[in-house]
Amino acid sequence: AEDGYKLWMSYSKIEDPKTLNFYKPRLQAIVWEDKDLEVAVEEVKLAIPKLLGITPKKGGKNGLILKVNPHINITNPEGYKVSVSGQSITIEAPRSVGVLYGVFHLLRCIQTGQEPAGEFSPKIQHRMLNHWDNNNGTIERGYAGMSLWKWYELPERLDPRYKDYARANASLGINATVINNVNASARFLSSEYLVKVKALADVFRPYGIKVYLSVNFASPRILGKLPDADPLKPEVQKWWKEKADEIYSLIPDFGGFLVKANSEGEPGPMDYGRTHVDGANMLAKALKPHGGMVFWRAFVYAPDPKGDRFKAAYEEFKPYDGQFDDNVIIQVKNGPIDFMPREPISPLFTAMEKTPLAMEFQVTQEYLGWATHWVYLASMFEECLKTDTRVKNRKTTLSEILQGKTFGYRHTAITGVANTGSDRNWTGHPMGQANWYALGRLAWDPDLGAKEIAQEWISQTLSRDSKTGSDIQSMMLSTREIYVNYTSPFGLHHVMGEGHHFGPEPWVEKAPRPDWTALYYHKADEKGIGFDRTNTGSNALAQYPKEFSAPFSSLETCPEEFLLWFHHVPWDRKLKNGDIFWEAFVKKFYQGVKEVEGLQRDWEKVKGKVPQETFENVSARLKTQHKEAIWWRDACVLYFQTFSKKALPAGLKAPE
Ligand code: GCU
Repeated sequence: AEDGYKLWMSYSKIEDPKTLNFYKPRLQAIVWEDKDLEVAVEEVKLAIPKLLGITPKKGGKNGLILKVNPHINITNPEGYKVSVSGQSITIEAPRSVGVLYGVFHLLRCIQTGQEPAGEFSPKIQHRMLNHWDNNNGTIERGYAGMSLWKWYELPERLDPRYKDYARANASLGINATVINNVNASARFLSSEYLVKVKALADVFRPYGIKVYLSVNFASPRILGKLPDADPLKPEVQKWWKEKADEIYSLIPDFGGFLVKANSEGEPGPMDYGRTHVDGANMLAKALKPHGGMVFWRAFVYAPDPKGDRFKAAYEEFKPYDGQFDDNVIIQVKNGPIDFMPREPISPLFTAMEKTPLAMEFQVTQEYLGWATHWVYLASMFEECLKTDTRVKNRKTTLSEILQGKTFGYRHTAITGVANTGSDRNWTGHPMGQANWYALGRLAWDPDLGAKEIAQEWISQTLSRDSKTGSDIQSMMLSTREIYVNYTSPFGLHHVMGEGHHFGPEPWVEKAPRPDWTALYYHKADEKGIGFDRTNTGSNALAQYPKEFSAPFSSLETCPEEFLLWFHHVPWDRKLKNGDIFWEAFVKKFYQGVKEVEGLQRDWEKVKGKVPQETFENVSARLKTQHKEAIWWRDACVLYFQTFSKKALPAGLKAPE
């Protein structure tokens, strides 16, 4: 059994008569000339017989016409135009990859019962996955098996899965992949590994996907045997320049470097008294002659028990605005702390006017239940992208900023830390596939909605029956808030297990660093709970435009889902619904558990209507999720009760 291997490309037979009537006559033939269109044609030949039960013949005047046309007038060179006339559908694009995207668009339209005509262009230039894969095959924060890349087999053997990986990404418009962990081994830059990287790049190229590497900043010392890696030293610069030349001689369209520097113990320019600017620009200069990019991460923070980690990225990067070379992008996490189930947006996005910023989402569910909890992340991504930042004191969504509209970015990028692995179904949890799908679709168009993306994904994977589809869609859309309810209500954050980040450990007071404890974040005491980030506390709110921060600044007006992010809330504080905070807080955990039970009941109803293997897989994982939701609830309620010293709200049974 294929057990989810084919992702949203299993192309199961269309039953809807209207769709069949529209497409069948127009897909009797495929017409193309350009040799570069082979992968697009291959996909059509694979999909159409399965979807429509017909085998398109080659050539003729009518049918599906695929054309590379460099003169076509289109917003973005990666875009495409689809037109329908008489008995044919024409897909035209300035580049062959655009035609490929057009083919995947067509296949999506067939499966969602839509007509395909129109002009389509990506709104973001760099649509990227970040794999946190190590050279020993493990994946940092990966929950779906081992790495997809079999280093010991490369470059000679190319696992067929590499091509399927490329197809899946291309079907979404993903055009960039960083294949190794940001905590990077220098080994990836060795000549031994570069030929392996080249072998992957060769597989991905026809699908429009560029390969990038995460680099270890100390590589000149580790690999090059230089005394250090000081970015201002000519011999260090020379080492990187020669390394870039070597890479490009193997991979002429190599994307560039992703760098985690001076963060969580990784080496960086500050080891030599230099700055992020010195480090990033030095690498940028090595890549520039080849057209390569540097993605330099803003995920930095110091182990200061009295400080506020929330403020670190802004404090370190804002002063450098305007000083980075033109092939540098600063990659900023969602959000200011670290991929929590609900974070406010990073203030950096509102403050760096002269530097292009990339969004880094996390698709792997490090803090969202690994691969056993069902969480459809598009709801969270959408919430973030649609946030009105109030930049320029007008409605300015984060999506607009990322598209470069607000500050006129030279480069635009959305990246996601991948949730893929060697599991047969790629993502462990079958529903995790929807998160990969959503990341790709949102990177193409960050204004899409979680709801429509879910609908698309369901019709291509689980069911095209409208009732079943809408039932699954409403389950998907409820999952993120359910997870928040039983793990992190009202903006509670960073109370997960220390180190492995699994399950609840709000009681952690000691860790290798104070800012890795839970206590640092929740600050529970007899009076209340939460991190005061107003002007009576760390004043992190001052990093936002004041029109944005104003409502968050007061306990009266702060949106309740963000209370503990910004306030130390008294246990007795009355909330809008009349409950005191302690009671409302406890009720959320109980509600979350009840909601998981609701999900279980609703999932039972689709039995027989979705592939049986998927049904059983999800049912079993829901059992685990339920067990762990109770664990979260009981751990948090009992622990925080030692501070509040209050009884549970009437009607709730105390955990044993
Ligand atoms: C988190 C995660 C680490 C990861 C880091 C990063 O802290 O737990 O495993 O290396 O983020 O994004 O660099």
